[in-house]
Amino acid sequence: MKPSTVLYKDASVPVEIRIDDLLSRMTTHEKVMQLNQYTLGNNNNENNVGEVAGELPAELGSVIYYNDNPDLRNAYQRRCMEESRLGIPCIFGYDMIHGFRTIYPISLGQACSWNVPLVERMTSYAAAEGRMSGIDWTFSPMIDVARDPRWGRVSEGYGEDPYANAAFCAATVRGYQGKSLADSTTIAACLKHYVAYGASEAGRDYVYTEVSPQTLWDTYLPPYKAGVDAGALTLMSSFNDISGIPGSANYYTLTEILKNRWKHKGFVVSDWGSIEQLVNQGNAADKKEAGLRAFNSGLEMDMMSHAYDKYLEELIDEGKVDSVLLDESVRRVLRVKMLLGLFEKPYTGNHPDRFMRPDALSAARQLAAESMVLLKNDSTGILPLDGVGRIAVIGPVAKSSASLQGSWNGRGVYDETVTLYQGILDRFAPEAEIRFAKGSDLDKTTEVELAQAVDTACWADVVILCLGEERRWSGENASRSTIALPEAQLQLAEKIAATGKPVVMLLSSGRPLDLSQMEPLANAIIEVWQPGTAGGAAAADILSGDVNPSGKLAMTFPRSTGQIPIYYNRRGSARRHQGFYQDIPSTPLYPFGHGLSYTTFAYGEPSVSSSTFRKGEKVTVTVPVTNTGSRAGAEAVLWFISDPAASITRPLMELKHFEKRELKPGETTTFKFVIDPMKHLSFPDADGNIILEPGDFKIIVGPHTVNIVME
Ligand code: NOJ
Repeated sequence: MKPSTVLYKDASVPVEIRIDDLLSRMTTHEKVMQLNQYTLGNNNNENNVGEVAGELPAELGSVIYYNDNPDLRNAYQRRCMEESRLGIPCIFGYDMIHGFRTIYPISLGQACSWNVPLVERMTSYAAAEGRMSGIDWTFSPMIDVARDPRWGRVSEGYGEDPYANAAFCAATVRGYQGKSLADSTTIAACLKHYVAYGASEAGRDYVYTEVSPQTLWDTYLPPYKAGVDAGALTLMSSFNDISGIPGSANYYTLTEILKNRWKHKGFVVSDWGSIEQLVNQGNAADKKEAGLRAFNSGLEMDMMSHAYDKYLEELIDEGKVDSVLLDESVRRVLRVKMLLGLFEKPYTGNHPDRFMRPDALSAARQLAAESMVLLKNDSTGILPLDGVGRIAVIGPVAKSSASLQGSWNGRGVYDETVTLYQGILDRFAPEAEIRFAKGSDLDKTTEVELAQAVDTACWADVVILCLGEERRWSGENASRSTIALPEAQLQLAEKIAATGKPVVMLLSSGRPLDLSQMEPLANAIIEVWQPGTAGGAAAADILSGDVNPSGKLAMTFPRSTGQIPIYYNRRGSARRHQGFYQDIPSTPLYPFGHGLSYTTFAYGEPSVSSSTFRKGEKVTVTVPVTNTGSRAGAEAVLWFISDPAASITRPLMELKHFEKRELKPGETTTFKFVIDPMKHLSFPDADGNIILEPGDFKIIVGPHTVNIVME
C-alpha cells in the first residue's frame, strides 16, 4: 500500500510528528471533543447511570462500550472515521476488571495467590477477549490500598499492602498491554482511582478522605508509581476529596507528581461524573467552574460530566484555559490512540471463538484455586475429603453463580459459571452420594428451610456449608456497617453445628468477614472469595486435595467490625503493651499472610551475605524452606523489613518481596531476597523525597528475624 500523503495518517512517521501535524489541522471544537467520553450501548451500570447514546457525535474522543459485539463498535467507529472532518478514531473503554467473558477471581482473591506470573498471564487472556470484542482500553487495575473492609471496593484491589498492590499492578499492566499495544489481543490499562480512594472514611463510598502527605507517599502512591513505571498508558482520577483537594481537581497529584516528576506520557480520565461532582464536594460553584478546576489541574478526559464539551471552548475564549494546555492534553489522548494503532486499524476483526478458550479457562481454575485461603483445618483433619460416602451441600451460596462472579463481572454469563454445588458434584459423585438443602437465603430463613437443612446434615457424613455474600454486597457503592454475615446464616450454621456432623465452611465474599461467631461452628473454613467462572471446580480441587491450598491473606480478617481499621503494617504505639480494647484480644482473627496447607513447611535459619554494609552495596538474604509433610505443595515466602528507628517513623514491618514456589514432599528450596538499600530500606518524606538512613534494619521471613546494619 502507498503511504498516506497526509502526515498524521502515515504510520512510518514518528508519533509526535504525526500529532504535530494533526493538531495543526484541528479546530478548537475538534480538540475539545477529543477530551470527552460518553457511553455507547446498553449502560447496565446502576451506580453510574448515563445516556444510552444513540447518535453520538463523530468527533467524540471516547466511549464506554457497553457491549461485546464488535459490530456495534465498528458501526460507530465508521462514523468517526468517515463522517468526521479529520477521521480521528474513537477509543473504546470498558470496565473489564477481573475478566471479560471468562471471569477470574476478584482482585483481592488474586492477591491471595501471591502468584504474579499467573495474574499476568490471566490479564493477557482477558485482554484478548476484550480487544477482540471491540475494547481498546480497560478501566483496570484498581490499586487503591484499602484497610477498611466495610468499604465494598476492597474486592477490586489487591489488599492492604502497598507493595502487594504495586507488584500485582505492574503484572496486570504487563498482561493487558503486552509487548505491543497495536496487537489485536492487547489493551491499554488504566490505573485507578488516582489517588487515596481506599482511605474512604468509615468505609463509606465517594466520601472525603483524610490523608496526610506522609501517608499519601507511604501508602497510596507507590502502586501508582509501579504502574506508571510498567508503562500504564492511562489513569482514572478518583471521586474522593483528598484532605480538601478532590482527586479530580488536584494539581499536586495530577500534574506535579504524575506529569512533572513521574513523566507520565498518557492521559487521565475522570471517574464517572467526578468533575461535576466537585460542586457537591464544595470545590466549585457550578459545573463550569468544576470543568475549569479539573482541566487546569491536569485531568485530560471528562467521563460523563459534560463539563468539557459544554464549557471548555468558552473557558478558552475567556482566557481561563490556556490553548497550550489544550494542545498538550489533546496530544496525550492522540498519543494513546496512535500507540494502540487505532489510526491504522480502527475496526475490530471477526473472532467468533474468542471467548472461554481452553487456556483462559484453565488459568481461571488455577487462579481460583490458588486464591482460596484455608483459614482453618482443625485436628479432626477433615480436609482434604477422602473416601466420604455422603456429602450434604448446604447453604444459600451453594447454587449461586452470581455470588461466585462477584461485582464488575464484565460480560460474564451466569450459566457458564461452575457453582460450588456443581463443582462438588462433578468431583465427588458418583463415588459419594450428594444431597443439597438451601437452609436459608443470604439474609433470611424459615423454620422449614432450617429443618430441611438439619435433616440433610443428619443424613450425611460431612457437611459442606456454603455461606457468604451476594455479589452486590461488595464493589462500588456497596458499603456495609458490619462485616459479619447476616443473622440468618449464623442461625443456619448453628443448627448445622448442633448436629455434631463434621462441617467444612466455604465462604464466598468480596471482603474479609467478621467470623468470630462462625469460626467455632466449623471444623474447616475455606475463604473462596468471588472466584469467577471456574469457582466451583476450583473449590472442589481444594476440598479433594487435588490441589493443595496455597493462598495466604492479602488483607487482615478482624475479630469484629469495631476493630477496624486493623492491618499488619501499622506504626508502633507509644506503649507496646497497653492501649488495647478491653473487651477483645488485640490481635486479628486471621492476620495478613495467614493461610494453611495440607502439608507443612519448615523455615531453616536464614543466611545473610554480610550483616554490615554501606549505601550502594547490596545484601543477599537466603532462607531454606523444606516441605516437611507428605504432599506436594506451594509456599509463598513473604519477606518483610523493619526499620526500628528512623527520623520519620516507619510501619512496624513492611512487605518488600515475595515469591511462591512448588515443593515436593521432603524437598528443600532456598528462597532469596537481594536487598538494594535505595529500593528496600529507604522511605519517602511528606513530599516524596527519598531518604536512606544508616542504622539497624531487621529482615523478617517466616518465624525468623535477621539483623543487618547499614554503616
Ligand atoms: C465508576 C467507578 O468508580 C469506576 O471504577 C468505573 O471505572 C467507572 N464508573 C466506569 O464505569
